[in-house]
Amino acid sequence: MSVPKINERSAAAAYEAWYHTRRGHWIAEREFALLRRLLNPAPHTSLLDIGCGTGYFSRRFAAGGLAVTGLDPDAAALDYAQGKGGGVHYIQGSALALPFADGHFDHATAITSLCFVADPLQALREMWRVSRGRVLLGLLNRHSLLHRQKEGKGGYRDARWDSATEVVERWIPALTPAPARYTAHSAIFLPTAGPLARQAERWLPNTLPWGGFLVICLEKTE
Ligand SMILES: C[S@@+](CC[C@H](N)C(=O)[O-])C[C@H]1O[C@@H](n2cnc3c(N)ncnc32)[C@H](O)[C@@H]1O
Repeated sequence: MSVPKINERSAAAAYEAWYHTRRGHWIAEREFALLRRLLNPAPHTSLLDIGCGTGYFSRRFAAGGLAVTGLDPDAAALDYAQGKGGGVHYIQGSALALPFADGHFDHATAITSLCFVADPLQALREMWRVSRGRVLLGLLNRHSLLHRQKEGKGGYRDARWDSATEVVERWIPALTPAPARYTAHSAIFLPTAGPLARQAERWLPNTLPWGGFLVICLEKTE
């Protein structure tokens, strides 16, 4: 959930560096733990990571044994991602028109990327179309302390903040076929990442809808 815009190679390196700060590392670990738990992929299944940016999460999933394709419109971010290796295949493209056949991937993720897409419903339809199994949306939660702290600031300036209710009431009913199941979870309840935040994260269940990082998991098959 590092959010500055990535539009040149040095910016990509700066973006990635955030993941190695004390706060960034903690946030990324919490986010990845939640994403991995919800995706719960079988070994060697395929994953399309949409809006992969510098490939931080793509590499994490690939290291866990998935065959990962990362897609992003930003050539500089992809160039940086490619340089990091990690066994991920990268492709330039937009979430709005995915260059893959129906059901091409087992799973698809969009991690803090649909918040920069003007038509998230079209992006979700595309994710749903190219996936056979689970689709995970990592969104910025409007009902969170992070929103109060960061809305309109820095790299969050152009981001849209979503809510689980909106996704459940407006996005999910637009999908065909309808999901067999969906869940909403969140993490990063106190965005400070200090001792109190770490304690809160240990005690508060991810089923509470007030974390800054909102994850909607949609399942296509039983
Ligand atoms: C905050 S970054 C997140 C990157 C990565 N998922 C992560 O969590 O580190 C947002 C990403 O969304 C990408 N993005 C913006 N518009 C997009 C679109 N139409 N389709 C796919 N990705 C898009 C940006 O290029 C950027 O890499």
